Amino acid sequence: MLKPQRSSAVILGAQWGDEGKGKIVDVLSERFDVVARYAGGHNAGHTVIIEGKKFVLQLIPCGVLRPDCIGVIGNGVVLDPAAFLGEVKKLREAGLPVDQRLFVSDRAQVILPYHRMIELAAETAPGRTPIGTTRRGIGPAYEDKIHRNGLRVVDLLNSSLLRTHIQNACHEKNTIAHALFGTEPLDPRAMYDEYARLAEQVAPFVTDTATLLNEAIEAGKKVMFEGAQGALLDIDHGTYPFVTSSSSTAGGAVTGTGVGPTRIGTVIGVTKAYVTRVGEGPFPTEIHNDTGDLIRARGQEYGAVTGRPRRCGWLDLPLLRYSNQINGTEWLVVTKMDVMDACAEIPVCTSYEVDGHTTDRIPADIRGFRSIKPVYTTLKGWNESTEGITEYDRLPAAAREYLSFIERESHARIGMISTGPDRTQTILLPDFEAALQA
Ligand code: GDP
Ligand code: IMO
Ligand code: MG
Repeated sequence: MLKPQRSSAVILGAQWGDEGKGKIVDVLSERFDVVARYAGGHNAGHTVIIEGKKFVLQLIPCGVLRPDCIGVIGNGVVLDPAAFLGEVKKLREAGLPVDQRLFVSDRAQVILPYHRMIELAAETAPGRTPIGTTRRGIGPAYEDKIHRNGLRVVDLLNSSLLRTHIQNACHEKNTIAHALFGTEPLDPRAMYDEYARLAEQVAPFVTDTATLLNEAIEAGKKVMFEGAQGALLDIDHGTYPFVTSSSSTAGGAVTGTGVGPTRIGTVIGVTKAYVTRVGEGPFPTEIHNDTGDLIRARGQEYGAVTGRPRRCGWLDLPLLRYSNQINGTEWLVVTKMDVMDACAEIPVCTSYEVDGHTTDRIPADIRGFRSIKPVYTTLKGWNESTEGITEYDRLPAAAREYLSFIERESHARIGMISTGPDRTQTILLPDFEAALQA
């Protein structure tokens, strides 16, 4: 009989990505046997710093940085085979072989060059509103999946199917891209040769990962689901259309891995002590003055994938409560506390004013977002360094007050605080630690 498993956990971004999930997954993966990605692709950029050495993982879950942890790329992910193999190579070069401990779902979708071609053309076409995507072909690959026209990893490994698929898809995509955007056609023969070669190298990693994960859980192993992007970039619940094309919320962990909801123990949301966003789209608490530049500089807020400067803003509690609600978040991790060390005062948005009325409701459309006026409560800054602090009681009183305020107002408990990018610069609170062991 299936039993609820308190010991598995989803870790996800509470806002628009880059909350520091990579670092937190790395810290916590010590307590887990398997770490699985369930959504997105190499649009993600998860940074981990171990003893001064920096790793940026895009497709492969950060758990693999611990040699005894198994990594899984679930069926909900869109896999660029070249990007995947590039990452495998980098890990091998860093002395972290992944053979027999990294597995790719046979049901994951494959990103092909025409996905990138169409995305690039659409993002730059005159008259189209750009989303500010990472231009990795993510959206068009998910489009094909939903259109039931995609190539899955299992099909990538079947050479005659691969050849036919590439021939047909190239014919269709070349025609559309040329008609709509005047794009030069891609050569299906060269594409087949390249992808048949890549397929051979991907093959040893491919398996039925849903069975692997469920059997691991049945055997009493602990599984962590590593979110990519953030809840507000979710295709259903995010700030549509300025979102990514997958289910980055907690529900995506279920559909994106084939592990049922009764087997997921808890949901952990990661938020910075402030908020950032890359790309276009609404951002009610965005800072448009020197303070925003100061936070960007102190937090080194430049995209891990595209190098774009991240937009910076104050913590938005209505959005955080919304994020916690749609994810069923029980625990929060607050990262980048040290970045706030330089702020004399820290405004936090506690509600919205719309047409003279106070509200907590998150609008469904962009027009609604435009009419929001954030209402702020200003908290005292602490004006001293929190960098590298590992004990809660050693945080300045104002920093503890800031965290208590977030906890009270967000309806989730704070379990962990990050005071620097390194693995060691972390505060783990006892109740959270106990919950992870339950
Ligand atoms: P992810 O996509 O959520 O994994 O986040 P990214 O790796 O894209 O961006 C987070 C950035 O913040 C990375 O450069 C991390 O090394 C860094 N970082 C994480 N936690 C902290 C922290 O507590 N303090 C500081 N200063 N940097 C942090
Ligand atoms: P991690 O996992 C931040 C954003 C893009 C763009 C929108 C759509 O590192 O937090 P896409 O290429 O997915 O079609 O782009 O989503 N975006 C991210 N922003 N962090 C990410 O991942 C992101 N993945 C996608 O900037 O606005
Ligand atoms: Mg990132």
